[in-house]
Amino acid sequence: MTNYHVIAGTWQLVSSSPNLTRMTVQLFLCRVLPDDNQHVPRLLARLDNEERDRAARFTFERDRRAYAGAHALLRHALDRAAGHRAWRFTANAFGKPRIEPPSNDIRFSLSHTDGLVAVALAHGRDVGVDVEASGRDADEATFRSLVLAPDEVSDLDGFVDRPGRLLRLWVAKEAIAKAIGHGLSLPLKQIVLRGEAPCLTSLPEQHGAASEWWLHTERYDMHWLALAARPPPCRVERMEMTVADLLTD
Ligand SMILES: CC(C)(COP(=O)(O)OP(=O)(O)OC[C@H]1O[C@@H](n2cnc3c(N)ncnc32)[C@H](O)[C@@H]1OP(=O)(O)O)[C@@H](O)C(=O)NCCC(=O)NCCS
Repeated sequence: MTNYHVIAGTWQLVSSSPNLTRMTVQLFLCRVLPDDNQHVPRLLARLDNEERDRAARFTFERDRRAYAGAHALLRHALDRAAGHRAWRFTANAFGKPRIEPPSNDIRFSLSHTDGLVAVALAHGRDVGVDVEASGRDADEATFRSLVLAPDEVSDLDGFVDRPGRLLRLWVAKEAIAKAIGHGLSLPLKQIVLRGEAPCLTSLPEQHGAASEWWLHTERYDMHWLALAARPPPCRVERMEMTVADLLTD
């Protein structure tokens, strides 16, 4: 079953429309669980040879399952937005994937982690998504030295769940870094997030003013999830599905 929710914006929910408009960001979420191992061959059948080669190189089945789920979800999302076709991709110098040849300025971001995969789609705006398991180890010393701005370190004392805070900041920064397209080569300490629901207060100036960005973070069951877009969308739609749903379209 696919569910539609508006999680931001001023427009009314259109529950049955798969349309990706210039106003909208679409977020697709799919749980990918150990029971779905049986479906991995069918997921892989939807990918291209290069993706199947990459999938074959994973050591752990959980990583292959998540990779196959994320890339099949991406094709599902693109098919809904722009019609079914044999999608091909290329990447920028930092690894950010894009559609090749470009299609209608559709941009996307994807993320896969144990148990959950996510795809964000937008039309003519930068978009980034990141998901992480909430039980993931969050070593505070590493975060302090590589990820957190001084103000974010000071803020930590205000949070009882410090590992949760660290992971929430992490997914938020990764989502912004993915939307920009520089990945982890972006100086993450210069992306500054304040407030309980992290709000972007500054980032390296070549990537625009903080006010040009929209950021959403949330705890999604056993995961942290972040979605970033520039410029801010009028509406964000969320589609939740299972691997079985993905395979029935
Ligand atoms: C992008 C990055 C932050 C992803 O981190 P992650 O949490 O480990 O993994 P996620 O599952 O959340 O995201 C991975 C996806 O992000 C996307 N991605 C990779 N590089 C990206 C970039 N520079 N910008 C935006 N998205 C990127 C890809 O779709 C990738 O999935 P895929 O490998 O299955 O195609 C990190 O892998 C990264 O920075 N990679 C680039 C490494 C780099 O700087 N290389 C330099 C080349 S010169």
